[in-house]
Amino acid sequence: MPKIGVFDSGIGGLSILDEAFLQAPSHDYLYLADSVNAPYGEQSSAWVASRSLQLCSWLISQSCSAVVVACNTATAQAIDQIRKKFPQIPIIGIEPGIKPAAALSQTKKVGVLATASTLQSEKFNALLATLLGDCEFITQAGVGLVPLIETGDLQHPQLEQLLIQYITPMVQANADTLVLGCTHYPFLEPLIQKLFGPNLHVINTSSAVIKQMCRLIPETISKPGSVTYYSTQNSAQLETLAKQLMSHQRTRLVSSEIVAV
Ligand code: DGL
Repeated sequence: MPKIGVFDSGIGGLSILDEAFLQAPSHDYLYLADSVNAPYGEQSSAWVASRSLQLCSWLISQSCSAVVVACNTATAQAIDQIRKKFPQIPIIGIEPGIKPAAALSQTKKVGVLATASTLQSEKFNALLATLLGDCEFITQAGVGLVPLIETGDLQHPQLEQLLIQYITPMVQANADTLVLGCTHYPFLEPLIQKLFGPNLHVINTSSAVIKQMCRLIPETISKPGSVTYYSTQNSAQLETLAKQLMSHQRTRLVSSEIVAV
């Protein structure tokens, strides 16, 4: 079976990996968290692009035959360069789901919560430009959310304060749909639903991304899959948080390691 590399600045990509475990449980996964450098969201585009290329090269050097860029920021800043450098490898990226959100919204007002880097990127703004006639988008950088999520304490009172600060103006402007444009944010979905209720539709594109992965790399046999968690900072903590945050990894073979990439 092919090995599939998945990377993010930290634990955010676990929201994508969890979906991969659900839809493609027989694959063997290498998850790489660049936690020593998280968050990426306020770094320069050039830095994110060059770091993403390094992480991707490392995964390919570990015999991965496909890579999931499980980070909106890295996808926005680097996916074209990654695909150019590794044309022989399927590279799957993730973008904020503004298209499905525009289709779903009744009020035609959609909030988009993502990193500053994603919101400023050419890629995101080009996508936004294709939808502007149909819908109004209220964008907001989720400054401060990622470092709090990285601690794994999803009950941290500051998370609640930041979500209220960022999402209330969207709801007051009549947005009925919220796009989670960062792979860390799906872990906040229960808190967002608790704070804003079921009338705010939350869009998270992990399932669509993994569907695309399965189209490109279908499972050919059924067996228990494996996962190795690599961290540039603390692999034991990464493995613990993965256990805590993910729902679909019960029967697989798990190991973890610190790496200098
Ligand atoms: N999880 C990443 C994303 O989807 C990166 C967040 C960050 O490191 O700031 O954008």
